[in-house]
Amino acid sequence: MSFPNQRMRRLRRTETLRRMSRETTLSRDDLVLPLFVVEGHGVREPIASMPGVERFSVDQVVEECRRVWDLGVPAVILFGIPDDKDGRGSGADAADGIVQRAVAAIKRDVSGLCVMTDVCMCEYTDHGHCGMIEAEHVVNDPSVERLAMTALSHARAGADIVAPSDMMDGRVGAIRRALDEHAFEDTIILSYAAKYASAYYGPFRDAAESTPQFGDRRSYQMDPPNAREAMREMALDIEEGADVLMVKPALAYLDILSEARRRFELPLAAYHVSGEYAMIHAAAERGWIDGPRAMEEALVSIKRAGADWILTYAAADLAGRLGH
Ligand code: PBG
Ligand code: ZN
Repeated sequence: MSFPNQRMRRLRRTETLRRMSRETTLSRDDLVLPLFVVEGHGVREPIASMPGVERFSVDQVVEECRRVWDLGVPAVILFGIPDDKDGRGSGADAADGIVQRAVAAIKRDVSGLCVMTDVCMCEYTDHGHCGMIEAEHVVNDPSVERLAMTALSHARAGADIVAPSDMMDGRVGAIRRALDEHAFEDTIILSYAAKYASAYYGPFRDAAESTPQFGDRRSYQMDPPNAREAMREMALDIEEGADVLMVKPALAYLDILSEARRRFELPLAAYHVSGEYAMIHAAAERGWIDGPRAMEEALVSIKRAGADWILTYAAADLAGRLGH
């Protein structure tokens, strides 16, 4: 059957018909808002390269969490930016560290909100790498130990979900064991399973002060041209005990997301990262594109490709616009 029996435009004729024919809809339930936490009190610092995004002190991040929870955002992911950094990233697993205090304060005041924590070393190390350094090399197994201790400290503070973003081998299994040994068998692991060495993290590294002081992250983050390797990363993380898998960044890797959706039954997350967010804002500021429409189009494409959860700096804005 073809034209004139088939007329594709019939179902596009009115907004009501388009609404009825829509295959994918963004919901507030899909959204996770990343938040940056800094030391101090009463602090809200805008981030120049990420319009609408701020860094909050613990008291202010609690206020922000209450606001976004009231808008219908179900989850946040916390990034800590400590004042003091050192070679081993001591602040990462400190019981009274910045993220640990923020998690406890948020769970106390906004108990329904799902609180995730990014588990990595780069915000806490003076060299800015995601693991431990020996002879200018990021060493795997000692890094995994530090990451497991960090995840455990987040669970102790009350995190619902820990999300390792370092890309060391074996860290999901080590985190699962550490959690289980300490009776945190219900703490969820969201693994940044396929995380690429991407240019799109630029604004984040300004916000988190986590730019490597030498070298780059290519010996641990994935090489952008590789797709089959991403499937191996994901299969390994499932074996090690991941509950949810993430692809990051999102738009340049929608093929990875869609292939993962086909192969795996686990929930999938995708991170619409800082550079992706910043590009839309930059073009919109120049009047070159309609910012809110472009943002929604980007996020719906991520959902269409197979993501269940979308980490986005636009979560609160979008939740406000979406309703249910
Ligand atoms: C830390 C981390 C990064 C991001 C999330 N966790 C930066 C990096 O790996 O350099 C990027 C998030 C973003 O760009 O929005 N490992
Ligand atoms: Zn890192």
